Amino acid sequence: MMSCPSTWPEPIVRVQLLSEAGYPVIPNRYVKPISERPSFDTKSNNLNIPIIDLFGLINGDRASQKVIMDQISLACREWGFFQVVNHGIDPELVDGAREVWRKFFHQPMDVKQKYANSPKTYEGYGSRLGLQKGAILDWSDYYFLHYLPSNLKDHNKWPSQPSYIRDITEDYSKEIVRLGKVLLKVFSTNLGLQENYLQDAFGGDDIGACLRVNFYPKCPQPDLTLGLSSHSDPGGMTFLLPDEDVSGLQVRKAGEWITVKPARHAIVVNIGDQIQVLTNATYKSVEHRVIVNPDKERVSLAYFFNPKSDLLIKPATELVTLTTPALYQPMTFDEYRLFIRTKGPQGKSQVESLKSPR
Ligand code: OGA
Ligand code: NI
Repeated sequence: MMSCPSTWPEPIVRVQLLSEAGYPVIPNRYVKPISERPSFDTKSNNLNIPIIDLFGLINGDRASQKVIMDQISLACREWGFFQVVNHGIDPELVDGAREVWRKFFHQPMDVKQKYANSPKTYEGYGSRLGLQKGAILDWSDYYFLHYLPSNLKDHNKWPSQPSYIRDITEDYSKEIVRLGKVLLKVFSTNLGLQENYLQDAFGGDDIGACLRVNFYPKCPQPDLTLGLSSHSDPGGMTFLLPDEDVSGLQVRKAGEWITVKPARHAIVVNIGDQIQVLTNATYKSVEHRVIVNPDKERVSLAYFFNPKSDLLIKPATELVTLTTPALYQPMTFDEYRLFIRTKGPQGKSQVESLKSPR
């Protein structure tokens, strides 16, 4: 198995500490080139990603299920991003998960430093993505942990404080995995594949599920930097629980950056690179980024649903035809994610570079 080195190329600086120090300017390390800086124009402000009510998918008759499946199909093809409401996850659990992680980041630094991560597995408390010395960094800290496959789950690598953080994270993870399995079935059926196609391609019960909790501290110069640079998610699909009090996630649609306006207790779903490969680009992963705010911090929980890391991922034969030949060469997710882990977020350059030579 390929892996990353066990140390970072430079000493780690916690963005939260920079923010709390209250300097009026941000260090140069966080200043993005002009072309990457966010624009705060209001042109696309009234647009939002589709909102899909899942109530009828879980509780309705066949006709209402079909209507919702069609909405999901359209959202996958046209946007690669949508938010679901009435998803069956208890609203108290949704709020509880977000708020316990907010509390985690508000603990004293020595409590968090016990879990400082390394680039080898990325598990724990981190402040950068990528290993390039001198790279321009993003204005965020994060916590990364594994839930599935169960042999990768290690509670000792999850925080123990606040006291109920492990229990809530367990409960929330279980619910996200349940929702994820439902949506993989919907996607497979919508694509004309066997209902279990995508879950089987992801490794059946050995599917991967890992959580990245993002903490975006207040930023004195939000127009110069980003909380998370433009990227597509390398895995299969992502379930993002956004902060409801402060927006920040932007999705690229026809060259414009659209700011996601989260509905109450909604979960944002997006297609990752592995589903783009498996569906031979019928569904595409979409570039997204996070902007930061001068007055408010932001917390989000990104749950990544990934293929088992040593399986070869390639376009489904049912979706490869004479007129739509296979666009991608087979690769394991282990090999694939090494790119983002060493180079950091780089738009969609990786999945694009995977195209078969013709
Ligand atoms: C991610 C991500 C968006 C957000 O963690 O991959 O895109 O709103 N997060 O935090
Ligand atoms: Ni992302």
